[in-house]
Amino acid sequence: MKHRILSLLLAACSVLALRADEGMWPLNLLSKIQDKMQARGLKLSAEDIYAINKSSAKDAVVRLMSKQGRMFCSGEIISSKGLFLTNHHCGYDAIQEIATPQDNILANGFWAKSMQEERRAGFNIGLLRKIEDVTTQVFNGVAINAPETERVAKIAAQVNVVRGNLLKALGDEAANYIIEVTPFYNGNQFLAMYYEVFRDIRLVGAPPENVGKFGGETDNWRWPRHTCDFSMFRIYTNANNKPADYNAANKAFAPYHHFPISLKGVKEGDFAMTMGYPGRTTRYTYSEGIRYLSGKERPMRVQVRRDIMDVYETYMKADKNVRLMYSSKLAGLGNYWNKFNGEAKELSKPEFYQKRKSAEMAFEQWVRANNKQADYGDVTSLYDEAYAGLNKYGLYSVYFQDGVSNSVPMANVSQVYGIIKTQKDIAAMDAVKDSAKIRKMNAAVAKMIAGYTEGISEAYHEFNGNIEKQVIAVVLKHILMDLDHASLPASMLKMDEKFKHNYTEMANSLWSSSIFCDTVKLKKAMANFKAKNIEKDPLYTIIAGYVNMMNVDLKPVLDEITNKLARANRLYMAAQFEMEKDKVFAPDANGTMRLSYGIIESYKARDAVNYNYFTTSRGILEKYIAGDFEFDAPDALINIIKKKDFGRYADADGELHTCFLSNNDITGGNSGSPVINGNGELIGTAFDGNWEAIASDFGFMPSVQRTISVDIRYTLFIVDKLGGASNIIGELDLK
Ligand code: ARG
Repeated sequence: MKHRILSLLLAACSVLALRADEGMWPLNLLSKIQDKMQARGLKLSAEDIYAINKSSAKDAVVRLMSKQGRMFCSGEIISSKGLFLTNHHCGYDAIQEIATPQDNILANGFWAKSMQEERRAGFNIGLLRKIEDVTTQVFNGVAINAPETERVAKIAAQVNVVRGNLLKALGDEAANYIIEVTPFYNGNQFLAMYYEVFRDIRLVGAPPENVGKFGGETDNWRWPRHTCDFSMFRIYTNANNKPADYNAANKAFAPYHHFPISLKGVKEGDFAMTMGYPGRTTRYTYSEGIRYLSGKERPMRVQVRRDIMDVYETYMKADKNVRLMYSSKLAGLGNYWNKFNGEAKELSKPEFYQKRKSAEMAFEQWVRANNKQADYGDVTSLYDEAYAGLNKYGLYSVYFQDGVSNSVPMANVSQVYGIIKTQKDIAAMDAVKDSAKIRKMNAAVAKMIAGYTEGISEAYHEFNGNIEKQVIAVVLKHILMDLDHASLPASMLKMDEKFKHNYTEMANSLWSSSIFCDTVKLKKAMANFKAKNIEKDPLYTIIAGYVNMMNVDLKPVLDEITNKLARANRLYMAAQFEMEKDKVFAPDANGTMRLSYGIIESYKARDAVNYNYFTTSRGILEKYIAGDFEFDAPDALINIIKKKDFGRYADADGELHTCFLSNNDITGGNSGSPVINGNGELIGTAFDGNWEAIASDFGFMPSVQRTISVDIRYTLFIVDKLGGASNIIGELDLK
């Protein structure tokens, strides 16, 4: 009897342990979830993870940012000399930029055998220093029921003031900081994030592409996985350990914390947490939004992307220099082609819509029962109006993002349109022609023209004539065949008539006549800039017409949709706080640092299909196809695997474990995040999510949602045995 009770108790505990917890937690909320984390196996305290006045785990988590400041990935510092680890697909762009046909480090891999050999990389990294709640300052003087347009303007202005003041308070340090004031809970709270930004980053190591991207788009978002998706970089500083521009004399950064690495491996049920920068989730999307996305927006994106990808792949397979040139673009398009495809299918399941609908009905009932009409009475109608608007007008911007922006000539037209538009706006201003203000604005335009002209070579740096000509045809075909003609520019419709809907011929004609398809002509036209001449260009005419339709003609309509949605989202969220007063809500991802805790866990994918929680190198041999676009692998790797020469990276079972699963709640942007065990040691690098939970940005799916990570032992095996970079291994703190 005693035994029976014990085993029942154990069973109850394990059920509890297996239920995953939703939430990408901001670090200022850690004290609220500390007990739950410790119950799952965490030995650290909230203070060990996030503290301001002493070093903590957060100091070893890096935020990858473009030179312009756009966040794109996460990473973790793993040595006392500023060495950090991220995904291969995060370093991809930087690696491609360094690679040349003669020294193709993207295809062949790269290992710096000393610090002198490390190569300058084209991005920055940010380290989070501090979080400050600035909600009161941002809302200062904003009436609760202010009209949305007024409110948006006021809040934007206030955010600027707050940010300015915080920066000023930093004194001389400000030059090394970016402060972002970010809305949380759909605009109900504002937090200021202080990032110290390091500008001298160098490539230390990367596996060959067929290791770092093994499985390509076929395996992407899927389990079981065998991709060794990692790359390594180093942060450099000036002599005082502070950020500095690139300088050969800079020294390796001495971090405040770096992660020790566990070589012991993981077992099912072990504690696991991720820390990193999830980009965006919209878990509170309204039912009509789910319908719009699954029925319209996502399917459209999938088609446009697929057609462009087909053009890329045709030429990439035929020529390895073209492959090198377009690889990063293809990966970017493909990654979200894959994801949108899965989302479209998943979100169109009736259960998904129904679950939202029931929650919304419960909300409406609560509003009535509690007499909350004054505060929340118009939420439903705002949503309905906004989505009716999106159904009618939403796709124009989608085709801009996924179509126009993916064509080099069209994207350049849209840039030049921006310059010409500014010029015209100034000319139309009601001021004395030579007033100081106007002169200043004209000087700014001249600067825009010079800046654009100078950047033309760079903008056309990845440009293959065969590909770009066909992409023009694909984009025009989709715009003219899929979109409502009511708002399309007359010039475009006229061209459609002229070529009798033959988009290849249309593209051929544009190709031979437009300056935007020939950089020599484009540079010449820019050097002698006359808006009138450029406006005669046939590609300019139709694409600038399209952009103008969105930016001018439809602007009031589109702004109204955005404002209605923002207002409805904010109020709906605020109502939920009131409805469940005791709940600690996890805010949607918004590009700020988050922690997600859970355990190592396998899953049941569908009827009769159960997935194990780890993969081994045997799977590489099973998937390997010599010479394939996606499943090729280096001979050297195949040989070491066959010999089972795994050294100290082998698991206790004698195999090389390659990837593993945990039930952490993550999303895009988390790529490269450290996966940390209960002792605060690194066990892997997160790089993907799984197919069954592909729609998790719209709803947490505890039974099937998994994070896919590279086992740190697989990473180190590649560094050591394939790369021979014992210098890198020597820097690490191995446990
Ligand atoms: N799905 C991964 C993510 O979004 C990226 C994988 C990149 N690999 C690829 N084959 N495109 O984090």
